[in-house]
Amino acid sequence: MKALLSIEGLTVELATRERTFEAVSDLNFRVSRNEVLALVGESGSGKSMTAMAIMRLLPEPVAEITAGRIMFDGIDLASAGEAELRKVRGNRIGLIFQEPMTSLNPSIRVGPQVAEVLRLHQGLNAASARNRVEELFERVRIPDPKRRFDDYPHQMSGGMRQRVVIALALACDPDVLIADEPTTALDVTTQAQILETFRDLQASVGAATILITHDLAVVAETADRVAVMYAGRIVEETTTEQLFAAPRHPYTHGLLGSIPHLSEEAVPGARGRLPEIAGTVPALWALPPGCAFAPRCPRAGQKCTSQRPPLENVAPGHMAACWYPLGAPQ
Ligand SMILES: Nc1ncnc2c1ncn2[C@@H]1O[C@H](COP(=O)(O)OP(=O)(O)OP(=O)(O)O)[C@@H](O)[C@H]1O
Ligand SMILES: [Mg+2]
Repeated sequence: MKALLSIEGLTVELATRERTFEAVSDLNFRVSRNEVLALVGESGSGKSMTAMAIMRLLPEPVAEITAGRIMFDGIDLASAGEAELRKVRGNRIGLIFQEPMTSLNPSIRVGPQVAEVLRLHQGLNAASARNRVEELFERVRIPDPKRRFDDYPHQMSGGMRQRVVIALALACDPDVLIADEPTTALDVTTQAQILETFRDLQASVGAATILITHDLAVVAETADRVAVMYAGRIVEETTTEQLFAAPRHPYTHGLLGSIPHLSEEAVPGARGRLPEIAGTVPALWALPPGCAFAPRCPRAGQKCTSQRPPLENVAPGHMAACWYPLGAPQ
């Protein structure tokens, strides 16, 4: 399948007052139409930085793309100008953040906010924009859309607000959808409902989707492929099925090792959360010379502490960055 979005060697550098370091290093992945790629990894592994880099919404000048290309439909977003980016953002690429209020303006009624995007990007007049918004609200299952049109964001529940954000992201029939922890800020019941809506709509729109999540149960239910990130790099990438059935990187294995059975509704709120792996993620500005996971890895040998393993095929369609991957022939 032809990739719609192709990330090639993407590197994002962060420069704070104290230090400069790479938050995302030499990232490579592709997403095709009708495909959901999940990005998973512990807090601080660079997932949100990746999403913001693709949209060119990095907090500049603190964070900057220092290498790589972000190819979208023949355009390199990494080097595109602001005018070009404005045509893409919120139009051909839709964004859903964890916290709905990141995307919504608190002082504008929700209907007109979504209508404005349609007028801006699609040139709809007021009446047709309103009709289309009501239609969208219905699609994202906001009850009584005609009445909710004139609500301010604060008059809605968190779940309803996130539905407005999904409507906003889908308003212009985007080719690419990027959702960064779209349900994490919501209670468990609402999470499940929003996720179901998201999945249905994603499938009907057919967008190439990047889903960023901590929740392995969400990955199992939603993603076609998974890229596991550790300390700013992808350490394993394959189909969801393959990842759960036969993880090859010890880090992935650790993540999967102690999760409750996926069909089991464990402790409310703890459903599918990333389990604890002994040790902590090293600071990005003090990474060990070899594999960044080596200090926590039960399989690490001498090579691991001195040479960084490249991300390579360990089986057809299955890549891992590990000198001693699990399940390798002896
Ligand atoms: N505005 C900022 N200024 C300085 N450092 C930042 C900033 N935003 C993020 N970072 C750092 O960049 C690194 C990558 O962060 P990022 O937000 O991409 O992680 P993440 O994988 O999305 O984590 P989480 O699961 O917690 O959302 C982290 O070390 C983080 O501390
Ligand atoms: Mg994040």
